[in-house]
Amino acid sequence: MRVSVVTLFPEMFTALTDSGITRRAVERHLLSLALVNPRDYAGNKHGSVDDKPYGGGPGMVMSVAPLRSALQVARLAVEGSGKAQEKKPKVVYLTPQGQPLKQPLVESLAKEESLVLLCGRYEGIDERVVESDVDLEVSLGDYVISGGELAAMVLLDAIIRLQPGALGDENSAGQDSFSGRGWLDYPHFTRPETIDGQDVPAVLLSGDHAAIASWRLEQALKKTLLKRPDLLEPQVLKNSGVELSKQEIEIVARLQADLND
Ligand code: ADE
Repeated sequence: MRVSVVTLFPEMFTALTDSGITRRAVERHLLSLALVNPRDYAGNKHGSVDDKPYGGGPGMVMSVAPLRSALQVARLAVEGSGKAQEKKPKVVYLTPQGQPLKQPLVESLAKEESLVLLCGRYEGIDERVVESDVDLEVSLGDYVISGGELAAMVLLDAIIRLQPGALGDENSAGQDSFSGRGWLDYPHFTRPETIDGQDVPAVLLSGDHAAIASWRLEQALKKTLLKRPDLLEPQVLKNSGVELSKQEIEIVARLQADLND
């Protein structure tokens, strides 16, 4: 996958390229990352990329021209063969006004051949760029951070873990919270069997794979019911196209009865 990021702070992205799974994925060329700084395309001798807002008010707004030039370079950087049938990269603008980032959106963006991520700073970017150059606006959540860079890194990390070969164990992304059925993850334990009077649940030591699988499903549903009951609401399940299995219905009913006791 090829990704370009338009950012005034390219150095922040070393957080991704210098450590862990994301570093390994870049080193193995599972993902190429081009960083494009609008300051390099300011087109004026002061290198200014922002200006005062029309109509007054606080802060500065990122100007159209440097952003459009940087976006053009960013698109070219992720172009593959240049063949006519090649899909144009989606331009994703990270903004608190965007659609909240959820795992299904990550999964769909992870399938793209190429993407351009646009990071805003200051009060935001000139709306004409949003109107004409942006395909999708994405938000991390209902809070404001100082710029789109951290949001772009969160999105990139989530995308990278879904690239084939990015994780040591091919199955482990499928077992994450929110992936697959959409429940929270079941609890994990490692050695020793007992520490400070706390034991590993006996079923995990039993070697009975079917019993372990149903214990894990029950634990995942229990965690979801306790911490994120909204994920089990009928309307939410319907919207995500998830139908509870017979086993899941039975487990949820039993857990709900236990909670009401
Ligand atoms: N930029 C500032 N706040 C943001 C948020 N919550 N999500 C995405 N980009 C942002």
